[in-house]
Amino acid sequence: MKAISQRALGGPDVLETIEVPIPEPGRGEVLVRMGATSVNTVDRKLRSGRVNFLGPPPFTVGFDLSGTVVGVGPGVTAFGSGDAVFGMVHGRTGTYSEYVVARADSLGLRPHGLDDIPAAALPTAASTAWQGLAAANPRAGERVLVHAAAGGVGHLAVQFARQRGAYVIGTARAVNHEFLRDLGVDEVIDYTTTDFTTVIDSVDVVFDLVGGAYGQRSLRVLRADGRYITAQESDAADDPRYRKITARPRPAELVEIGEHAADGHLRVHIDRVFSLDDVALAHALSESGHSRGKVVLTPWE
Ligand SMILES: NC(=O)c1ccc[n+]([C@@H]2O[C@H](COP(=O)([O-])OP(=O)(O)OC[C@H]3O[C@@H](n4cnc5c(N)ncnc54)[C@H](OP(=O)(O)O)[C@@H]3O)[C@@H](O)[C@H]2O)c1
Repeated sequence: MKAISQRALGGPDVLETIEVPIPEPGRGEVLVRMGATSVNTVDRKLRSGRVNFLGPPPFTVGFDLSGTVVGVGPGVTAFGSGDAVFGMVHGRTGTYSEYVVARADSLGLRPHGLDDIPAAALPTAASTAWQGLAAANPRAGERVLVHAAAGGVGHLAVQFARQRGAYVIGTARAVNHEFLRDLGVDEVIDYTTTDFTTVIDSVDVVFDLVGGAYGQRSLRVLRADGRYITAQESDAADDPRYRKITARPRPAELVEIGEHAADGHLRVHIDRVFSLDDVALAHALSESGHSRGKVVLTPWE
């Protein structure tokens, strides 16, 4: 089978296609034929060496998976061959691969009507958005500020916040404002022309997907009893209102989110779909920092 691998850390050009044997599922594992995967920031950080929890190369990156079960290991009763599944997979191999071995308990059944491409866009981004909002627990009428509202996590987070009845403010370039208003965002701020700290205040929740110096600046607009949630490193870590989240794979939660996407209550925006032949272009687009929604990868042509 084909898989993406890299012999060195570096830019998108280190990603290459190799041939490797199809892996065998072990106890509690399934073998999935990949239908689609998607690009997450962590994939790029692993590729370049900004994080290194996979150890030194060679390795295959990728955590999001949608596909079809083609083999089950001993002890697996939840799935059988032919089942459509999706999930956030921390398996033996990355998901930029024709076949992926995954722990059965990391996957959920893909809801009817949800295709591979939107399903592959969801696992990491939607789990981050959902779990971030759960940590903040905004109530109806509360003011929620989402930084990087037009990105993979952000465009889902603003919809989850709206569903909770919050008043949602998002930061994004002007080119994304109509997109965000269509998703229900009440107020948009162009961070390239306007310092958000000068135009809003009394915010109940900040969901910071930019991090860095956005932390302290966000605290300036946050109520004394507000909640600051981030999925990034930021300079607000010493504040008692600060909380950092790391997305966890929770298949039942993901299936529920997938059902909202399948029935049209959640919009999953795909910026572009690349085949894995063009994985370097996909990483370059993601690395621009200005992709709208998600960048998705499908198998080699
Ligand atoms: N902790 C976790 O478990 C976890 C999981 C997933 C993601 N994350 C983190 O969450 C962050 C967002 O991830 P993502 O996948 O959504 O990223 P992404 O899709 O690559 O984000 C791209 C978006 O960021 C926006 N953006 C860039 N600079 C901005 C700025 N200064 N102010 C406001 N918006 C800005 C862009 O909007 P414009 O084009 O309008 O500039 C673009 O739409 C990343 O830092 C990632 O590392 C953490």
